[in-house]
Amino acid sequence: MTTNDQLFERARQVIPGGVNSPVRAFRAVGGTPRFIARAQGAHMWDAEGTQYIDYIGSWGPMILGHGHPAVLEAVQKAAVEGFSFGAPTEREVELAEEIIRHVPSIEQVRLVSSGTEAGMSAIRLARGATGRSKIIKFEGCYHGHADALLVKAGSGLATFGHPTSAGVPAEVVQHTLVLEYNNVEQIEAAFKAHGPEIACVMIEPIAGNMNFVRAQVPFVRRIRELCDQHGALFIFDEVMTGFRVALGSAQSLYAQAIPGFQPDISVFGKVIGGGMPLAAFASSRRIMAHLAPLGGVYQAGTLSGNPVATACGLATLREISRPGFFDALGARTRALVEGLKGAADAAGVPFCVDSQGGMFGFFLMPELPQNYTTVMTTDQPRFNRFFHGMLERGIYLAPALYEAGFVSAAHTDADIAATVAAAAEVFRTL
Ligand SMILES: Cc1ncc(COP(=O)(O)O)c(C=O)c1O
Repeated sequence: MTTNDQLFERARQVIPGGVNSPVRAFRAVGGTPRFIARAQGAHMWDAEGTQYIDYIGSWGPMILGHGHPAVLEAVQKAAVEGFSFGAPTEREVELAEEIIRHVPSIEQVRLVSSGTEAGMSAIRLARGATGRSKIIKFEGCYHGHADALLVKAGSGLATFGHPTSAGVPAEVVQHTLVLEYNNVEQIEAAFKAHGPEIACVMIEPIAGNMNFVRAQVPFVRRIRELCDQHGALFIFDEVMTGFRVALGSAQSLYAQAIPGFQPDISVFGKVIGGGMPLAAFASSRRIMAHLAPLGGVYQAGTLSGNPVATACGLATLREISRPGFFDALGARTRALVEGLKGAADAAGVPFCVDSQGGMFGFFLMPELPQNYTTVMTTDQPRFNRFFHGMLERGIYLAPALYEAGFVSAAHTDADIAATVAAAAEVFRTL
């Protein structure tokens, strides 16, 4: 048998840090990453044959669990028909129609291969459509690794951001303003100072890249008003929340709270590809008309709308569109987080939880945080002890305190009960 340690050692020889995406390296929590050999339903097995209950779900896409029969069948059939043609297919149209059917704010969809690509293209579209340069993002929200987004806040509202990655020239982020999440005063001040130059405001409506922090309704309402007043576009990055927190995505939840609410541009990924490389950005026909080949905003992709990926996404969306799917998923996720909360309370560990649909977060603190600075006050060593205690008991949670968790339709009551029982043990050791 090859061990995880051996594989990691081998991987580090040929892949930087041994991984193809940094969070997989377990740097935040320490220890050896598990090399996954296979997965089925809500379970994964590593190279050593150890079984885990999976609460990552490939960081969101696996909403049906692994190896769902209908999805598998669709992918197998599509693979036989052809991997990639570089020419249009009916399935792309079907997938676009299926996405539009559930999300009233959008009329047209452009398919791409990753969330990064979708977010980057959405910003280019917003800039092209408005003829403006400046963009606003929020600290703790991640929209992929496009240069203009790898940025942290400047020293004040008048100063734009500084790059957070080597290789990103300061000039490239000079138009990116980074503000505090859920801070109404800051966004008001930003529009007051720069209103006519702002192309777009981009947000994760439920920020899954700072664990699980909801954008408060008054905050979203105020951004919508400010965008309308100043002619800026409001971009909802629903790469994580799209078709994950509700069938209509997070924007449907805000539309319930804010009558008539719609974002101008939406970005999707993860669930719409069902685990295959597929993402999308979408908007009204009027805004999408700025895109090539119709308009002057260039965007393209060799594998965009890939026939196997669209088959996977389409089969996934059809399954999750069944009546009652999200009620059942939401109930299961709530059972998990309430179970964890009960176990933490019993052990006297400060703990709070939140969830929506099949996405959840938990914090080793007494109250839900509202922004990144508060999230990062978490007792990191304590989180790491919790993470490793759970992993040793076969529960695979996100290996970083600032990541969300995901429950799938394949998680059973027994999986949830086993997770809560493991947590009860671990909490007593914290
Ligand atoms: C909200 C959000 N936007 C964009 C991205 C980037 O997507 P990808 O990793 O597919 O490039 C992610 C990835 O986790 C994300 O969570």
